[in-house]
Amino acid sequence: MKFFIDTANLDQIREAQSLGVLDGVTTNPSLMAKEGITGEKNIIEHYVKICELVDGDVSAEVIAVDFAGMVKEGEHLASLHPQIVVKIPMIEEGVKALKYFYDAGIKTNCTLVFSTGQALLAAKAGATYVSPFIGRLDDNSTDGLELIEDIRLVFDNYSYGTEILAASVRHTMHIVNCAKIGADVMTGPLSAIKGLLNHPLTDIGLEKFLSDYRKGN
Ligand code: E4P
Repeated sequence: MKFFIDTANLDQIREAQSLGVLDGVTTNPSLMAKEGITGEKNIIEHYVKICELVDGDVSAEVIAVDFAGMVKEGEHLASLHPQIVVKIPMIEEGVKALKYFYDAGIKTNCTLVFSTGQALLAAKAGATYVSPFIGRLDDNSTDGLELIEDIRLVFDNYSYGTEILAASVRHTMHIVNCAKIGADVMTGPLSAIKGLLNHPLTDIGLEKFLSDYRKGN
């Protein structure tokens, strides 16, 4: 399973990259705003900075909600850096844009996916990634991981090439369960990724090994 970090924070992206397990970055307008990055020029510059920090795909979201606007914006975003993946919302005009970018050979990430039907439509339109938001479903008393299972089943039935990018991952067990189900990618915060390191028996065991070593030296 590929690991993407879901942030626009450059320090956190650097830290995840230095761990050696980072495969890409996802951002969205809210994550940009959280870092104080506003205005088209600053946002564009920030995408380029992120691309320069990591090796993998970097999702950059369009703001337009009409087909022509998404195409114009998406083409501009894709021209910024070869690592850019154009992030398109799951709406009718977005589906048309996914197909347009597929035909143009431009990678896409279909965002704001909350049902298997939406994921199926995105795959049919040729999306590179489909992003089901599992945390936001959990927030609404609906099991987000069940959605990943259902999409996995449908995509495997027809060998769709679209990758399942489990998004809105909130904690470490989301990552572990996405891996058990067979999500292709997960995107989550640095805290969830670093949470995978934790086990008290590792800390206790290491402390004991080191203190025993010191006894003999
Ligand atoms: C996905 O690409 C989104 O940026 C993200 O995962 C949304 O997560 P949230 O529900 O924690 O805002």
